[in-house]
Amino acid sequence: MRRAVCPGSFDPITYGHLDIIARASVHFDQVVVAVLENRTKSSLFTVAERIEMIRETTSNLPNVTVDSWSGLLVEYCKSNSIQAIVKGLRAVTDFDYELQMAQVNLQGSGVETMFMATAPAHSFLSSSLVKELAHYGGDVSTMVPASVNEALKLRVAGK
Ligand code: PNS
Repeated sequence: MRRAVCPGSFDPITYGHLDIIARASVHFDQVVVAVLENRTKSSLFTVAERIEMIRETTSNLPNVTVDSWSGLLVEYCKSNSIQAIVKGLRAVTDFDYELQMAQVNLQGSGVETMFMATAPAHSFLSSSLVKELAHYGGDVSTMVPASVNEALKLRVAGK
């Protein structure tokens, strides 16, 4: 079985992430969306909230599952028989860091990283941008699913 992981913080999931996950699901038997439990990075949503949002917004994709992990991504891949990491590349600014991570991950583990070109409509999109806009009352309805938009509104209102 060909299994891939789409890893990330997903704080929160955006249409850019969903586009990569859906396209990856065409090329693999199973795609695991894995949310990093990062103790150092402060987040707007808890890991459990992020998992719930991802589950709901990927429920139309039968071969996509959602999980969380902490530690090295390649260790997670090895423990879960995952052969490939799938990442979206938005622009050249992503490239240096992503290449470095892909090379570190490949070395020793043999886990491949496959990059997918982000759809042009999403090339400027990031969770950080969405949070910044939502914080100041900006309209993010074209960037995230409706349920995520609602959750964002409640969270920035302090609920
Ligand atoms: O959505 P993000 O925050 O850009 O995702 C980055 C992520 C979580 C994919 C990356 O930081 C990661 O894989 N972290 C886990 C630790 C690890 O394995 N690092 C790579 C080798 S140094």
